[in-house]
Amino acid sequence: MKNDKPRIGILTGGGDCPGLNAVIRAVGKAAYHRGWHTLGIKGGYEGLLAPVQTMDLFYKEMGHLLVTGGTILGTSNKGRFSAKTGKGEVHRIPKKILEEAKRNFKKLDLQALVCVGGDGSLTIAQQLFEEGIPVVGVPKTIDNDLEATVITFGFDSAVHCATDALDRLHTTARSHNRVMVLEVMGRHAGWIAISAGISGGGDIILIPEIPFRYESICAKIRERTRNGKHFTLVVVAEGAKPAGGDIVARSGGADREVRLGGIGQLVSDEIEKRTGKETRVCVLGHLQRGGGPTSFDRLLCTRFGVRAVDLIANKRFGHMVALRPPDTVSVPITEAIGRLRTVPLDGDLVQTGRALGISFGD
Ligand code: F6P
Repeated sequence: MKNDKPRIGILTGGGDCPGLNAVIRAVGKAAYHRGWHTLGIKGGYEGLLAPVQTMDLFYKEMGHLLVTGGTILGTSNKGRFSAKTGKGEVHRIPKKILEEAKRNFKKLDLQALVCVGGDGSLTIAQQLFEEGIPVVGVPKTIDNDLEATVITFGFDSAVHCATDALDRLHTTARSHNRVMVLEVMGRHAGWIAISAGISGGGDIILIPEIPFRYESICAKIRERTRNGKHFTLVVVAEGAKPAGGDIVARSGGADREVRLGGIGQLVSDEIEKRTGKETRVCVLGHLQRGGGPTSFDRLLCTRFGVRAVDLIANKRFGHMVALRPPDTVSVPITEAIGRLRTVPLDGDLVQTGRALGISFGD
């Protein structure tokens, strides 16, 4: 339904995560209080192409969104807008796709577009901005690997999920004197693995930033056994790899990033073979992306959404909201994309882990 109010659009791109709906709500509410109307673009960027798919976001329908997982707009991490196929590999979106998106943006009579997404989605947002669409970004990814913000939303909820899993694995590992391997997400960066690993009392944490050796992992397990600890919790990021080895991929395609998964099983098999200890593996997978956001993420999403509307009011297009505690700020989208923020090897998290005797398998 069209009316005379200024209109803004919002879309969610890439993999989903807890908090997308909370951002949609915050944008919709903040826009409403400025007298603007918000239009949701459905199915990620694809919704900007024929057949254009939209939904009106009316104020009275925002009620449940703060706590609801997923995205009411739907999303996509493949299709005609795929901008990334791997680490650092950026595709230019074909000119005719960008032009069609711009034409439809104009037909929808929108004044600005809020693009909520991670590295890939913000790379697309930047290309749309260069095409002349007034875009602002909101940084999302459970992997927390985006530059220019100290944290992305969705990450805290994923860490909470992985920590809860470790708490549960802890009791069963202890009861059976087993090694439990938990595989968590984290394609290029081990933020979830190291954060949940430390929060959940993990003994061995394997992250993409630190290639591991099986001898080192098994030495740690034997050391624990000598010290009377007959169980061990291992957390492994899906993108972790052995020194001199490669990531474990399930599938891939020329037009999209490879699908990771399986390193947990390999690590588990190798530990059992080398130590003789009974070992089990648990792959947490998309549980980390499902469900509602933690209170931290609810607050962050709300701050991000409100700030995104401020950016539109101030015509700071081509910018993204970011958290620089204690404030939310805005940064050019170009500062956030094209390079990934990984866990620093000399940073506080790794140091904290090492001081506790946690092995990183190196
Ligand atoms: O980038 C976020 C992420 O959760 C990665 O950790 C994971 O590799 C990927 O998405 C999985 O995406 P999907 O299964 O939705 O294609």
